[in-house]
Amino acid sequence: MGKFIVFEGTDGSGKSTQIASLAKKLTDNGEKVYITAEPTVSLSGGILRDALAGITQKSPSELAVLFAWDRINHNVNKYDGIEKLLSEGYTVLCDRYYYSSLAYQGKDAGYEWVKSLNIGCKDIRKPDLCFFLDVSPKVSMERINSGRQTKEIYEKEDQLTQIRQTFYKVIDDLNDNIVIINAEEDMISVSNKIYEEYQKAFKNTVL
Ligand code: TMP
Repeated sequence: MGKFIVFEGTDGSGKSTQIASLAKKLTDNGEKVYITAEPTVSLSGGILRDALAGITQKSPSELAVLFAWDRINHNVNKYDGIEKLLSEGYTVLCDRYYYSSLAYQGKDAGYEWVKSLNIGCKDIRKPDLCFFLDVSPKVSMERINSGRQTKEIYEKEDQLTQIRQTFYKVIDDLNDNIVIINAEEDMISVSNKIYEEYQKAFKNTVL
């Protein structure tokens, strides 16, 4: 069975860069690695992308259900689902997972309800390890503004401030293996720290 690793953080925290960097290190080390993300590229993911871009309007509760649907399909689909990949021995690196639902939808749609929708679902697997890439809302906004022209619905400084606070609550509340990484440092230092924590977490596992 492979390992299931999730990367979380507010928008602009550098997740994709760090996922690519860890994937390279693990591949060089002989591990089979698969990179995936939520929202996914399936039908549910497309509906979510339109809502995140503000093309369609969805309430926080609708978003919570749509993200949960997308996540269940992400786990169980027989083509490239997380369960299938893990059973084939892949280390799966996933950009966002249920921690995002608890932080982003939990703050508006009712934290306990969003938690039960996800943690209470037998088809939503608990990750082996989660990295929370922590950056201040100010740095998040600077990175978002320098990276692209259009913004998604959550990409505002006051929203990111609340979301970061809810992420801290999630980390305290869940009994998951979550490592907080200061992602304001330079890319190489962050990458080295992540690899060090990865090795620590799986030191007794035969790779
Ligand atoms: P990203 O592709 O830049 O990570 O953006 C995905 C957006 O979707 C981001 O604003 C966070 C949001 N999101 C939720 O609100 N809930 C979720 O469960 C997930 C997976 C993402």
